[in-house]
Amino acid sequence: MLPRKEEPPVSNPVLMEVVDDIAVIAIANPPVNALSHAVRSGLDAAFAEIARRDDVKAVVIYGTDRTFIAGADIREFGKPPQEPFLPDLINRIEACVVPVVAALHGTALGGGLEVALGAHYRVAVPNARFGLPEVTLGILPGAGGTQRLPRLAGVEFALEAITSGRQISADEALKAGVIDRISDTSDVREMGLTYARELVASGATPRRTSELSPVPVAAEVFDAARTRLAKKARGQLAPQNCIKAVEGATRLSFAEGLANERALFQELMESDQRAALIHAFFAERQVAKVPEIKDVAPRTIDQIGVIGGGTMGAGIAVSALLAGLQVTLIERDADAVARAEANVSKTLQGSVKRGKLSQENYDAIMGGTFRASDDYATLAEADVVIEAVFESMEVKKDVFTKLDAICKPGAILASNTSYLDVNEIAAMTSRPEDVIGLHFFSPAHVMRLLEIVVADKTAPEVTATGFALAKRLKKVAVRAGVCDGFIGNRILSHYRKAGDGAVLAGASPFEVDRALVNFGLAMGPYAVSDLAGLDIGWATRKRLAPTRDPREVYAEFADRLCEAGHFGRKTGKGFYVYGEEGQVPNDEVLEHIAMERAAKGIAARKISEQEIVDRYMAAMVNEAARVVEEGIALRPLDVDVTLLNGYGFPRWRGGPMQYADTVGLDKILADIERFAQEDDFLWQPASLLKRLVAEGKTFADLNNA
Ligand code: CAA
Ligand code: NAI
Repeated sequence: MLPRKEEPPVSNPVLMEVVDDIAVIAIANPPVNALSHAVRSGLDAAFAEIARRDDVKAVVIYGTDRTFIAGADIREFGKPPQEPFLPDLINRIEACVVPVVAALHGTALGGGLEVALGAHYRVAVPNARFGLPEVTLGILPGAGGTQRLPRLAGVEFALEAITSGRQISADEALKAGVIDRISDTSDVREMGLTYARELVASGATPRRTSELSPVPVAAEVFDAARTRLAKKARGQLAPQNCIKAVEGATRLSFAEGLANERALFQELMESDQRAALIHAFFAERQVAKVPEIKDVAPRTIDQIGVIGGGTMGAGIAVSALLAGLQVTLIERDADAVARAEANVSKTLQGSVKRGKLSQENYDAIMGGTFRASDDYATLAEADVVIEAVFESMEVKKDVFTKLDAICKPGAILASNTSYLDVNEIAAMTSRPEDVIGLHFFSPAHVMRLLEIVVADKTAPEVTATGFALAKRLKKVAVRAGVCDGFIGNRILSHYRKAGDGAVLAGASPFEVDRALVNFGLAMGPYAVSDLAGLDIGWATRKRLAPTRDPREVYAEFADRLCEAGHFGRKTGKGFYVYGEEGQVPNDEVLEHIAMERAAKGIAARKISEQEIVDRYMAAMVNEAARVVEEGIALRPLDVDVTLLNGYGFPRWRGGPMQYADTVGLDKILADIERFAQEDDFLWQPASLLKRLVAEGKTFADLNNA
């Protein structure tokens, strides 16, 4: 007998009560009512009891607190599965002989939506959201979703929803037939009960989705999806398996389609891609868990100041404005103010066009929420000021001296510097405890990553405010320590050298780019530097030249391009030429490289695609290990989140540290030792890597420590 609602045992997440002749099942498994083993068992027991009783005329399932079921319990993935299995449970729900109503609010996702599809009737509150996001976790809806959704909402709708994993609004779900009605009753339990009473009164019977036949579609629909996703989701297994599963629904019986879905699901469950994507999911939540700010309340943020309205300043201003914050932007003079205003306005208009901002809100922003000025005094009331002026210590020191004089006590003074020493910047003020690095990525209103650079004297409350601001801006924040380039750019500088090393040894920059794009990076490193502007890296190399170790093999070919005035896309030429034919390799680069090899006495050899990837990844992982060892990143997972969200690392590989664990740290170390035979200065193994290999441990062991 299932426990009654009035006397629940503490650990039971599924409670049933019978109200008149309706069984009401509440799922209470905070925070998101995931379908853990206990929830599945509880639901199974509830339906077993309903089957035994003859006084139940209908059933309502709902979720307590903030949501209906948000999916399978992802924490159970990779562990031995325990009965009852979800597909069997949903079949059991569907087989129920009295009408079953799913009353939906919050997010009915994955296995949660599959439970709802197994119910016979679905009612939702207006702001409920639905989706089958499994593909984003490297799997597919494995509890009948690929069979029931095409039957209910049409094959093309299901194919798009399942292969994209996107969330669907209640309105769209109603239109597509995923749900039967929208109700604005504020009490979800009551909403379900009302619908169930109506069904009982009208003599409605169970309506089983599995008994419908999907409307057939042309085979080309699947072929087109396969081609599109082979390009869009390059290298990924899950989208292709999703297509096969939905296709199965159109040519197999329901039972055979389920078995087909199961086999395709199992294949994905066992893949490294599934492990990597789930690692990414949890890592992105874990990064916010920073010991020094546990239980520390952030300061209030309403007004933001931004200094500099160039590429970054304008983007940061837009990001804050879209989050509803007040922004005052400071530029050097009236002309620069006008340019900055125009930049911000143009970007916001783009948001209006894409439907991300209403015209009314745009007007409100340009009518007062956003102000631009050349007078620093207008920052007197700002809660956080983010400096994004030229990457020059002298200019930044001047700005921080002014800010210290003007800003109110308790205001947070932040720098968006890419490489410079935040301690040195903080020392220019009388309040180093209020100074922090907030390192955005370009374009700042689009890129999700925010490195929060904690200097020696930064107060925990200021760090906590940085994380709170990131959340408001819908960014993923990673804590970083102070060093040249923090987490991401420091690692980038190192693996870029490995790319240059591969070029000096015999590869062309175009081969390096191709190998890494085939590996899964969004763009190759040389195409990226063309996009960012070759002058930026050049300036950094010149800045660091006096401290460069004489043992370093310094690749000069990028400098030769810059000396010739080729800065990449912005000048129409860099590693590639940008013209009417799009992006084509610049042959001049090969001449510079050949000359440099000759001067250095290097005989070029063929470098395979695999060797390019091995070099690149070994360098990335090695420097990342140092970054973790020195405490610049708190854990390996912080490095993964940084590279995934700021540097185009393929999510389905989980980040460099997850990749290293997957191929084996011993293999990475062996590669480093092999490459060291050619250049033992660049390829010095990090002591953390050596220690982990000696102890037979992984980076994941450090994440979990
Ligand atoms: N399983 C286990 N834990 C989960 C979870 C899940 N499905 N979904 C969320 N959580 C956890 C998070 O890790 C987080 O835990 P901590 O507080 O310890 O960090 C907590 O719940 C809250 O999550 P969020 O911080 O993400 O909360 P949010 O309000 O911002 O978002 C959400 C809520 C939209 C449900 C979001 O968490 C989400 O997208 N979750 C994943 C949903 C999903 O992918 N479901 C499909 C699962 S796969 C499946 O169902 C396969 C199948 O066919 C059987
Ligand atoms: P930018 O050259 O596009 O813009 C800098 C702006 O600052 C200019 O508009 C300039 O007029 C203004 N400025 C200079 N001195 C000023 C002063 N004293 N007061 C007010 N305004 C002043 O440069 P960008 O690319 O926006 O970079 C700014 C900062 O952001 C740098 O520190 C850079 O390292 C960092 N950054 C840049 C990224 C990029 O991809 N461009 C990415 C992340 C950080």
